[in-house]
Amino acid sequence: MERLEGKIALITGGARGLGLAIGRRFREEGAQVVINDLDPEAAQKAATEIGGSSLAADVSDSAAVAAMFDEVASQHGRLDVLVNNAGINGIEDDPERAADFRNRMLAQASEAVSGGPIETHLDATVEATDDDWHRMLAVHLDGTFFCSREALKIMNPQMSGCILNMGSIMGTAGGAGSAAYCAAKAGILGFTRSLAREVVTRNIRVNAIAPGWIDTDFTSFLNETKMLIAAQTPMGRLGDVDDIAWAAVYLASNEAKFVTGQTLSPNGGWHMSQ
Ligand SMILES: NC(=O)c1ccc[n+]([C@@H]2O[C@H](COP(=O)([O-])OP(=O)(O)OC[C@H]3O[C@@H](n4cnc5c(N)ncnc54)[C@H](O)[C@@H]3O)[C@@H](O)[C@H]2O)c1
Repeated sequence: MERLEGKIALITGGARGLGLAIGRRFREEGAQVVINDLDPEAAQKAATEIGGSSLAADVSDSAAVAAMFDEVASQHGRLDVLVNNAGINGIEDDPERAADFRNRMLAQASEAVSGGPIETHLDATVEATDDDWHRMLAVHLDGTFFCSREALKIMNPQMSGCILNMGSIMGTAGGAGSAAYCAAKAGILGFTRSLAREVVTRNIRVNAIAPGWIDTDFTSFLNETKMLIAAQTPMGRLGDVDDIAWAAVYLASNEAKFVTGQTLSPNGGWHMSQ
């Protein structure tokens, strides 16, 4: 219960899903938690729920991120853990597009199980706009960089700290129809390893978590295709948010004091190489 006693932790995209679950477990383990999210009300509601505080900012906005970390420094005077968790799937705000993608996945799967030929194509990359591509990289990759850079301005003089970056199994396995997301997550894994080497001299650890398929709002668009994913997963199910939150607690705690530059991947056996 005291694995993170006295630590100050900032979690981006913490208003719901994995970020909120991480915030809840961090609180239980004794950390003071600052919840970041896009929407100030959603961030504050989550913070109130777990007994933390909130700071709204778009992580892809460099100036907003700098202002948020200035606020952390002035409110707390230090930062022990940054969780770069904010993320988008690219279609959550477009139900029509999500349904179209899902239908194509289902049609393809049905053609495959009936022995082919495959006549349904996902065509997501050829249909993606410049904005789709840039927004995906901006939230995940720019956001991780902007927040890490500002966090290091606080952690470097402390000569201590821990950064956790949310990757995905998609960053190594790839995923049909999600090239921009996979590129962003692969970039985050490379960023993690490089930064880990750079800041080790300052006693700062940097690790990634690469979740498998987890039941959150992020994956709700999958609807009935979740059955296909569960069937492809050796453990026969999607993960729950605590499957990731406990990994974050471990990596942020002193139990992981010899762990840096690593990717921990709770994924039910879906993917066995990170
Ligand atoms: N759910 C999964 O299956 C899964 C699998 C692998 C990786 N991930 C990653 O885990 C992270 C969290 O996923 P989740 O399932 O909790 O998703 P979610 O959609 O439930 O939560 C994401 C949160 O991030 C916030 N957010 C989005 N853009 C933001 C921005 N620009 N600035 C600040 N906040 C922003 C959202 O408002 C939301 O509260 C993401 O990085 C996602 O890519 C999720």
